[in-house]
Amino acid sequence: MTLILGIESSCDETGVAIYDSENGLLANTLYSQIDLHRQYGGVVPELASRDHLRKIIPLIDEALINAKKTLNEIDAIAFTAGPGLNGALLIGATVANSIAFANKIPLIPVHHLEGHILSPILADKNLAPPFVALLVSGGHSQIIAVEKIGSYHILGDTLDDASGEAFDKTAKMLGLPYPGGRYIAELARHGKESYPLPRPMLNSGNLTMSFSGLKTAVLTLIQNLEKQQISIEGQVLADIAKSIEEAITDVLVKKSMMAIKETGIKQLVVCGGVSANLTLRNKLNDYAKRHDYRIVYPPLDLCTDNGAMIALAGYYRFKDRQSGYSFSVNPRWDLS
Ligand code: KG4
Ligand code: ZN
Repeated sequence: MTLILGIESSCDETGVAIYDSENGLLANTLYSQIDLHRQYGGVVPELASRDHLRKIIPLIDEALINAKKTLNEIDAIAFTAGPGLNGALLIGATVANSIAFANKIPLIPVHHLEGHILSPILADKNLAPPFVALLVSGGHSQIIAVEKIGSYHILGDTLDDASGEAFDKTAKMLGLPYPGGRYIAELARHGKESYPLPRPMLNSGNLTMSFSGLKTAVLTLIQNLEKQQISIEGQVLADIAKSIEEAITDVLVKKSMMAIKETGIKQLVVCGGVSANLTLRNKLNDYAKRHDYRIVYPPLDLCTDNGAMIALAGYYRFKDRQSGYSFSVNPRWDLS
């Protein structure tokens, strides 16, 4: 049995978890700073660092208490070393290094995206590569071929905005709170796709994506409706939300299908904050049934950033004996 303490602090979520290689998650504590940043319409890096500093030790204590474990029993400490906000990453790195060094516990720097990619293992312990990963979050939209754990080959990427960013930015134009993905999804449940929006690169013939044009299209739509003195509320708002959700998810579904076809790998993993989107899940599940491939998602509450996925990824790195103290972080760390 191996016990890993995982620490996540790359953006606006402080997450701490304890993963047991035999029994799974023993504890998973999370503090979201969303309320703090909401008034600014996005994450303010300086405030994020300060809030991580305030919360990280109490969360570690709470995780140990919940798991009924002491630091002496922890085999390794894993922390997010990048990519992310420099100051925020440094808080996690400094705390993890200090506790590990003082208690002579091995330390494992973890790539945040590897955490997301492996997170569906928390839902299905038998999941094993090869698989294609659709990684869709606020900062990334990538399609990755995973030959084995630790070997990641990027097949497709966005040219500009990430899909989560497209949800958040269009939500902001509609006056919805930050981060807007789940508000768009909630409104879309009662909406119709009355305002078809562009799906850039949909038929580009490759796995490249682009979402920045959606902002302009939504802005033009809002201006046109205002010109006609149609207020953007009620059913109109729900219909715009549905139109946005359909445009983004259509692109993600089509590109994932292409990747499955091109690689011949009949297993898809969908991860990152946008993988919580139920319209995306329904469309992908529908294709998976018709084309006979397997699809695995993280548990709904582990789609967005958390310490559990870092503890899990740390476990696989620890198995490969990849540990060592290092106070450095890498805000722009590439996955492959
Ligand atoms: O993985 P994550 O927590 O952070 C990053 O690493 O970026 O992802 C956050 C993103 C945000 O853009 C948020 O709006 C989006 O995930 N998101 C959603 C939903 N829930 C979260 N987007 C669409 N539908 C959702 N239900
Ligand atoms: Zn993330």
